[in-house]
Amino acid sequence: MSGLFITLEGPEGAGKSTNRDYLAARLREQGVDVVMTREPGGTPLAERIRELLLAPSEERMAVDTELLLMFAARAQHLAEVIRPALARGAVVLCDRFTDATYAYQGGGRGLPVERIAILEAFVQGELRPDLTLVFDLPVEVGLARAAARGRLDRFEQEGQAFFEAVRQAYLQRAGQQPQRYRLLDAAQPLNAVQQAINALVPGILERCRG
Ligand SMILES: Nc1ncnc2c1ncn2[C@@H]1O[C@H](COP(=O)(O)OP(=O)(O)OP(=O)(O)O)[C@@H](O)[C@H]1O
Ligand SMILES: [Mg+2]
Repeated sequence: MSGLFITLEGPEGAGKSTNRDYLAARLREQGVDVVMTREPGGTPLAERIRELLLAPSEERMAVDTELLLMFAARAQHLAEVIRPALARGAVVLCDRFTDATYAYQGGGRGLPVERIAILEAFVQGELRPDLTLVFDLPVEVGLARAAARGRLDRFEQEGQAFFEAVRQAYLQRAGQQPQRYRLLDAAQPLNAVQQAINALVPGILERCRG
């Protein structure tokens, strides 16, 4: 058995967590063994690294530090949660993964893609998501949804230009590999997004049973 690795990507407030829970419920109804998790984080140690990454602080975090902490958390998450779950044949639904590193540290912070790719190969080996859902929406809409939740984290405090670059990086990656990515219009009302998720369920069931 080799499970199925599904990631959910997109900017703040796009609906990743809401729709991860929704998709998990639809798959569990069908008897699928689903593991829901998130990045950065997903294990106690990786969640501590997440706190370092998200907490606003007076000391500016160097961009390379940010990148390495993301992959340090990911290494832990892969070892403790993702690889064991895939090995027992589960469907892993992960809220953000390495595409977020390409989008935020690459697109947003301007780090060269090649540097990210080196760490991706080092930490993940050959492992890549089987399917990546990209929740796309205009930057203002996502920021308004995130702001409505209250206090902003270190990333949410970035400006419009940062999030435009994040969005473009996601769209570019989705465009380059249409077989792996599914682009979802996350500006639609939630029930319309969920209908789009429902439409993906038969294909997912086929892949995790095939
Ligand atoms: N399609 C939608 N239309 C309107 N509101 C939505 C939609 N999808 C999600 N929301 C609402 O927007 C807020 C953010 O959704 P959610 O937490 O799922 O986003 P997220 O992508 O996980 O954000 P973050 O990256 O900050 O964790 C929530 O209050 C959620 O109920
Ligand atoms: Mg979320």
